[in-house]
Amino acid sequence: MGGAKARWHGGRGQGGRARTAPGRPPAPGRTVAGMETGLAGKRVLVTGATGGIGGELVAAFAAEGARVGVHHRSDPPRAQQLAARYDGVALAADLTVESEVDGLVAAAVESLGGLEILVANAGKYPTPAAPVWELDPARWRATIAANLDATFLLCRAFLRHVVTTGVGTIVLVGSTAARFGEADHADYAAAKAGLSGLALSLKNEIVRIAPAGRINVVAPGWTATDRNADRLGDPDFVRARTATMALDKLGRPADVAAAAVVLASDRLSGHVTGETVTVAGGMEGRLLR
Ligand SMILES: NC(=O)c1ccc[n+]([C@@H]2O[C@H](COP(=O)([O-])OP(=O)(O)OC[C@H]3O[C@@H](n4cnc5c(N)ncnc54)[C@H](OP(=O)(O)O)[C@@H]3O)[C@@H](O)[C@H]2O)c1
Repeated sequence: MGGAKARWHGGRGQGGRARTAPGRPPAPGRTVAGMETGLAGKRVLVTGATGGIGGELVAAFAAEGARVGVHHRSDPPRAQQLAARYDGVALAADLTVESEVDGLVAAAVESLGGLEILVANAGKYPTPAAPVWELDPARWRATIAANLDATFLLCRAFLRHVVTTGVGTIVLVGSTAARFGEADHADYAAAKAGLSGLALSLKNEIVRIAPAGRINVVAPGWTATDRNADRLGDPDFVRARTATMALDKLGRPADVAAAAVVLASDRLSGHVTGETVTVAGGMEGRLLR
């Protein structure tokens, strides 16, 4: 692990955190249904925090009183803004680069004073849409690298830290593409499906080093974020997506974040591991209306 690169932008204070730090929105009203999650004081690394779902993950964990490592790759201003708002620390890394991933976890541990929870949210939805017979191997490899290799590297770096503490919980962010497939995005579906095998294997490995250690997957369906805002402005596009769902609406980043908080909480999910929680309004692989 020598030579690991850390790119820590700093952030707010490094000492003990206050539940209502200056400039931080008060927790009530944002917590998961007002329940006590036991996450106060936990140190959480959220990857891809500058993305649409990532920002809500940061807000949701901070609202529970956790201290958050706000990871980004290419958006220091947004990461620093989130870190300042939620009393976290901004941390940069390209998750496809082994040394940067190792450096990210080391920097999170150092700047947060420890690390108990990993939320591996970063991912890449490839464009353009293309059937397999038109798929360039370079695109295939890039998609697998950004979604599957990166998650492997992250889990590995985190678990090497867990070896030293005996405590650790992981939440992976997958996709309904893993369950239903996704024509014209087979690379993405295959990468996300790989997360299931990773999680099912790690649930049996993590308990060797952390007796209460757990890993679960949150699998969002279509979720309204800036990334897909242009397409979600098209009623036909939205109708075609929601026609496979019991609930006639798209998900929100906050829906995904709430599920991640519940799974990360030992108090709420202490006997839940190796599971995939789908956050997709009851999506099926067929038209419902
Ligand atoms: N939104 C949806 O409808 C939906 C549905 C199902 C699943 N998901 C999954 O939910 C997660 C979050 O999605 P989102 O909608 O919030 O996506 P997003 O807005 O595109 O954000 C993705 C984040 O991941 C980061 N990232 C990507 N590749 C990276 C790499 N190699 N190294 C470091 N960071 C990297 C991005 O950083 P850069 O900006 O620097 O690339 C960005 O911060 C993803 O895993 C996605 O696959 C989303």
